[in-house]
Amino acid sequence: MIGDHYLIWVTTDEILCGNIGAMQDKPSVVVTRRMPEAVHARLLRDYRVVPNEDDHAFSAEELISAARDAQADALLICATDPMDADVIAALPDSVKTIATFAVGVDNIDLAAAKARGIVVANTPDVLTDACADIAMLLTLAAARRAYEGDQMVRTGAWVGWRPTQLLGRDLQRKRLGIFGMGRIGRAYAKRAKAFGMKIHYCNRSRLDRRSEGGAIFHQDIEEMLPLCEFFSINAPATPETKGFLNAERIARLPEGSIVVNIARGDLINDEALIAALKSGHVAAAGLDVFAGEPDIHPGYRELPNVFLMPHAGSATIETRDRMGLACIDAFDAFFSGRPVPTQVA
Ligand code: GLV
Repeated sequence: MIGDHYLIWVTTDEILCGNIGAMQDKPSVVVTRRMPEAVHARLLRDYRVVPNEDDHAFSAEELISAARDAQADALLICATDPMDADVIAALPDSVKTIATFAVGVDNIDLAAAKARGIVVANTPDVLTDACADIAMLLTLAAARRAYEGDQMVRTGAWVGWRPTQLLGRDLQRKRLGIFGMGRIGRAYAKRAKAFGMKIHYCNRSRLDRRSEGGAIFHQDIEEMLPLCEFFSINAPATPETKGFLNAERIARLPEGSIVVNIARGDLINDEALIAALKSGHVAAAGLDVFAGEPDIHPGYRELPNVFLMPHAGSATIETRDRMGLACIDAFDAFFSGRPVPTQVA
């Protein structure tokens, strides 16, 4: 899947060394957001970088203009950058590869990219632990009313310890249902199991026994929902999963259940979840992702029983470095004519 013109200036030594920076004419990369220092330094060393100077979110038009103006060979984008069929159609022919600084690829029309012969790579694996950690953080924060506790202390409303103050829920012996048992779902299950939770999961296909780690498989989500004292969304956003957690499915959850979402906001019908959080049918929620980010449904801001994070699943220094370096690894492989291990289209 490598364009012929790249092969002209890739020497055997460069291929063997994987040393893109040694090429006479470095490939140019439009980098849509500011990258961590180590990532930026390696990009600068090995590529002609077209940066986004003030780190604002590019519109589709800005992204297309940047690619055209630079006659870019590659784009390093993020989960927030629009890369639908129209944007892909408007990219200059010079663009041969796109790496997204994310595991989720719902912002990219992979079929359109493939049809144009553009190789797309993402960053799986390197962010699994960080995302599973934040799922656990949200689970604990929702169950133990972390937002209310924090507010009580900060505002001075805390007048002292009482046996009945700010009572949350135990995790031990509770059933946790995980919708989507990919890498992150499995890493979260492992953590939750260590907290004494009983893991159930619904996935396209059943995992092998070892990967299951004792979790109970449900083919049918409707059958799993009534068991879920805790319910977590770990599935990708697709046309099929959009609005997945709607009023009907929420009604199937047990009274007082706790909902966690670290996947994509589009999987939740916000009106339905907010109504359930108000009625108490859902006792609490921990949410890291939202439909229409950053303009989230204002109803969430009013609710004390929802713990909110700004799409920070992979936001650790170590993980963000690894994600950026994985994008560069994908470019290095592509421009050296090697297979791109993280290719998704
Ligand atoms: C972030 O949301 C990602 O998909 O990596």
